[in-house]
Amino acid sequence: MCSMSVAIGGGKGGTGKSLIAVQLGILIAELGLRVVLVDADLNGANLHTFFGLEDPQYSLGHVLSGEQEARDVVLPTGVKDLGLIAGVYQDLRDLSDASQAERFSVSLGALDADITLWDVGSGAGAWQTRLFDQADVGILVSSPSFQGMERDYFFLRRLCLWKMQGSLTSAPPSQGWLPMPWLTALRAQDPPRAHTLRRALRKKPVYCLVNGISQIADSHIEREIAPVIRRFFGLRTVPLGSLEYDERLSMTSASRRPFVFEFPDSRWVQQMRGVTEHLLGLLSADDDPSLPPDSQPPNSSG
Ligand SMILES: Nc1ncnc2c1ncn2[C@@H]1O[C@H](COP(=O)(O)OP(=O)(O)OP(=O)(O)O)[C@@H](O)[C@H]1O
Ligand SMILES: [Mg+2]
Repeated sequence: MCSMSVAIGGGKGGTGKSLIAVQLGILIAELGLRVVLVDADLNGANLHTFFGLEDPQYSLGHVLSGEQEARDVVLPTGVKDLGLIAGVYQDLRDLSDASQAERFSVSLGALDADITLWDVGSGAGAWQTRLFDQADVGILVSSPSFQGMERDYFFLRRLCLWKMQGSLTSAPPSQGWLPMPWLTALRAQDPPRAHTLRRALRKKPVYCLVNGISQIADSHIEREIAPVIRRFFGLRTVPLGSLEYDERLSMTSASRRPFVFEFPDSRWVQQMRGVTEHLLGLLSADDDPSLPPDSQPPNSSG
């Protein structure tokens, strides 16, 4: 498997992205792959705290400013084969131009790792959605709540706009805009353009992971969410799994010892192991995930 980047993001805050990034990083490294975790959540950088690291001397900020090479700011985490590029607070407005996100991807591409895992933070901002789009694959972490779904709508909408960048008319999309109904209308007027945009949306997969399930009825909700996203946003989606609610996760978040070490036999960790194996299986089956597995003829739907 060649080096791959995996972004972890989502519209709503507090859905467990950082927690999942850390546990995923540990579980992948335990399977023998070299992993670098990257804390790109510059509004709420906290991955270093999961490893008990105080105020890291070097961080992603030094890479983005060009002061340091990415490989020189990788911190040891105490876990074999798992390094960390820490984040520190940075005003995202300073990073809103495309060249910063470009610099981010190029610098990390030079790292000697099998997988880089990017915690891009929450929200539909330019930084978060652009990084999510730049990674080879993105994991959308959702929560089983109406508010969560609503925030994800804004996240996915912005993601689609990046993918179709330059191809939309100058008027900004109206409230409630969805790519697929829009493309269906476009197809009647301009089939080749609609086809190109459809392919752009499908180029890289979005993996759907739901965290914090507390009802049995929701236990495979990702399998319901993935086709809905595909249908309305036109993105290529893969249901990755769901993880249950475990109150010990909130209580141990301050213990500074990763949950997979604290409660290795818990159901949450077992589920996380399943997600990890599923992810690695998908990545190695699809060694170049930027290539769509099939192409959509101009007159096909959904
Ligand atoms: N499945 C779960 N069950 C119970 N608590 C959870 C679960 N997943 C995460 N938590 C708790 O929710 C809180 C938020 O988690 P975390 O910081 O990882 O979210 P986040 O998505 O990274 O948040 P932000 O968007 O602010 O960066 C933490 O206290 C975490 O331990
Ligand atoms: Mg976080």
